[in-house]
Amino acid sequence: MRSPYEELGLAFGDAMVPYLYGTDCTPALAAAVLERLGDVDAILLVLDDGVRGHADAVAAELARRVRVEPVAVEAAERHKTLPTVHHLLETAVARGLTRRSAVVAMGGGTVGNLAGLAAALLFRGTRLVHLPTTPVAAFDATVSLKQGVNLSAGKNLAGTYFVPALIACDLAWLSTMPRHDLLTGLAEMVKNVLVAAPGLEPKLVRALEEPRLALRALLEIGVEAKAPYVAADPRERGGALIFEYGHTAGHAVEFVSGGAIRHGEAVAWGMLVAAEVARRHHGLAADDVAAHHRLVARLDLPGAATRLDGLGRDAIRAALAADNKRGYGPCAPGEVLMVLLDSVGRTVPGPAGGPPLVPVPIEAVMDAFETVAMNALEAV
Ligand SMILES: NC(=O)c1ccc[n+]([C@@H]2O[C@H](COP(=O)([O-])OP(=O)(O)OC[C@H]3O[C@@H](n4cnc5c(N)ncnc54)[C@H](O)[C@@H]3O)[C@@H](O)[C@H]2O)c1
Repeated sequence: MRSPYEELGLAFGDAMVPYLYGTDCTPALAAAVLERLGDVDAILLVLDDGVRGHADAVAAELARRVRVEPVAVEAAERHKTLPTVHHLLETAVARGLTRRSAVVAMGGGTVGNLAGLAAALLFRGTRLVHLPTTPVAAFDATVSLKQGVNLSAGKNLAGTYFVPALIACDLAWLSTMPRHDLLTGLAEMVKNVLVAAPGLEPKLVRALEEPRLALRALLEIGVEAKAPYVAADPRERGGALIFEYGHTAGHAVEFVSGGAIRHGEAVAWGMLVAAEVARRHHGLAADDVAAHHRLVARLDLPGAATRLDGLGRDAIRAALAADNKRGYGPCAPGEVLMVLLDSVGRTVPGPAGGPPLVPVPIEAVMDAFETVAMNALEAV
């Protein structure tokens, strides 16, 4: 009989992680999770508060064969912190998890990062399964070993790398995402096309016409673009840093908005800021800048002026100064490291053959930010 799901193998250096995906296949995926975990005595199901319906169905299937201990987390940037990780660890121990147990993360990137870090710390490493339910998580965050949480100065400043045992996604879970969040969450796919896979633009544009019907294609774009880079650079400290494109200004916007501007949307703004910096200082051609606006406009973002105007400029400067790429390459005080393009699909090389990160004065980023903030997308 034909399997109700397909399977990809994601390589992270020497580690190979199975990624199972399909549509309307939750019972089969839950059975596969148990089969792949083998000898497991309990599961801590860390679930996103916003996906209780999907999580109940998964928990019921898992509970046929193993003790399931659910713990709900509010998926908000202000809770993506070490105290929440601590709460998960205390809960795991209080509920009797052992070294034979596993942590299953069900939700978006926020819950994936929280549970991922908790799994890495519990008993110095417990098996981790990701069940992603957002486009950011399913098509991007799980194609990464990074498990980071926020500190008071900025995003993802504490964390580790951790290899999951398995990723499994019923694409039907994503169907409950509000249309706007589904679309803006696809900014990471736009990023993949701009930075690494311009040949995938027609496929992405087709998928963005009716994203709910094109989730498989979107998953393939995410994996196809990023997988070769994380295979060669599993810690994303060298060549795979190109996927930080749009994340310097993007993280600052996301952090300063307190998460009101969600990750995908923030990355979209961040890419427009990066394109503006590159246009002014690295000769990015007008056609290439236009390609950014053309693709970002398909994400149905609200007008830039209304979204970005309310954000405190000093707070954005401070968040840029605390960016978590500091130290990857030379960067003077008052500068920040950015991934920049000199044309679509080609990054500006970093200094002295180092990682593809360019030091940029924070004031130059702020100038570009003001330009993006002033230009409502409709006017482009
Ligand atoms: N390499 C990495 O680890 C990596 C990569 C990309 C993003 N991230 C992180 O991921 C986070 C953003 O993740 P996200 O965009 O998935 O958002 P999220 O996890 O913050 O979730 C956003 C909202 O969507 C809700 N939600 C989740 N699934 C849903 C569903 N199926 N139906 C309806 N609502 C649903 C959540 O409850 C929440 O309210 C950021 O913190 C970012 O830093 C990490």
